[in-house]
Amino acid sequence: MLKGKTIVLGVSGGIAAYKAAALCSKLTQQGASVRVIMTDSAARFIAPLTLQVLSKHPVYTDTFDEKDPSVVAHIDLADHADLIIVAPATANVIAKMAHGLADDMLSTTLLAATAPVLVAPAMNVHMYAHPAVQHNMELLAARGVRFIEPGEGLLACGYVGKGRLAEPEDIVEAVRQYFGRTELLKGRRVLVTAGGTMERIDPVRYLTNDSSGKMGFAIAAAAAEHGAEVVVVAARTSAPPPAGVELVRVESAQQMLEAVLERFDQSDIVVKAAAVADYRPIHMHGEKLKKQGAGLVLELEKTPDILETLGARKRHQLLIGFAAETSQVEHYAMDKLHRKNCDLIVANDVSQEGAGFHGDTNIVQLFDAAGLVDAWPMLSKREVAERLVRLAAERLQRRLGAEQS
Ligand code: CTP
Repeated sequence: MLKGKTIVLGVSGGIAAYKAAALCSKLTQQGASVRVIMTDSAARFIAPLTLQVLSKHPVYTDTFDEKDPSVVAHIDLADHADLIIVAPATANVIAKMAHGLADDMLSTTLLAATAPVLVAPAMNVHMYAHPAVQHNMELLAARGVRFIEPGEGLLACGYVGKGRLAEPEDIVEAVRQYFGRTELLKGRRVLVTAGGTMERIDPVRYLTNDSSGKMGFAIAAAAAEHGAEVVVVAARTSAPPPAGVELVRVESAQQMLEAVLERFDQSDIVVKAAAVADYRPIHMHGEKLKKQGAGLVLELEKTPDILETLGARKRHQLLIGFAAETSQVEHYAMDKLHRKNCDLIVANDVSQEGAGFHGDTNIVQLFDAAGLVDAWPMLSKREVAERLVRLAAERLQRRLGAEQS
């Protein structure tokens, strides 16, 4: 899939720079021609010679070290790139990209490039969470830069948390997905919900759930990669939103219902990946609740069932729901499919290791009115999204074909 593709790999200076060697090697093995640019700090962590040997091309570290007098290196590299990957991307290089600074070979090439950019951040957990870094990433995402989320775990600095460079295999998978994009959904509108709704108790407290939004965001990203016009209605999430989609932020189930209903009639495919609270406090207190007595009883009422409302309104839309279960998956999934008038239900047994809210993987079974459609092994959420979007596109196509004949 990567044969004939030129990938510029920008390596910046974090301890994860050593993983750039594995990434470079894997990309080269898949047929890509990899041109490496390293910052001075990256070259203190890993020798440029390593990346030169793995990529079989000279490694660029200095803007003024022009290796070929017939071209200007940073412009030439920028012009020939089909894709630029920055891995690892430090807080510093992300800031430079966000603000258009160009003071070394990597940042100068990035500024000169029109190719799509994939950024894999790696840094200390507090640096990653810093509002300046988050804001810079949002700025870049709004400009179309794609991010590969860092993993959580023990960081080289001794902290445990989010900031570890995504594994080279996951970065390669994202690259393959990028080059595998099609126009399968060109001209189609896809509406996706993501995250967990927040049901306010008072101005500073709310009820919510563990949903990270990763699955919904991955579906939105995959639909966009296949040419769809995508709107994501997202409640509370802890994953970075995808590039190239319209993001509508909501809090509660009621707000999500309103945002979705506004866009439902124009949508061709609707995927309800959000974890919608089933109940909300009857009263939202206007002021912060004061502590009183030994206990507190919160009275709750049912939220609107968004998927069921959509199912009742459905005309041409392909409606896809999710079902997170801990037992009798098929029974409950089929019940939800019929009750909510869905075309497909994506069900997962969240009691299984590797499925559900927190992780980057999922194990799903798909059901339609006739029963089990497919059962997929443990896959990254990205891959689940990719397969689901292809399946939805096929079904939509089949339906349109049947209507026309
Ligand atoms: N859903 C929704 N609105 C709600 C509750 C759920 O749109 N108020 C949607 C979810 O987005 C998901 C599907 O319905 O696509 C199934 O959600 P789930 O919570 O599993 O189903 P419930 O109907 O709430 O059933 P239960 O909690 O009893 O399993």
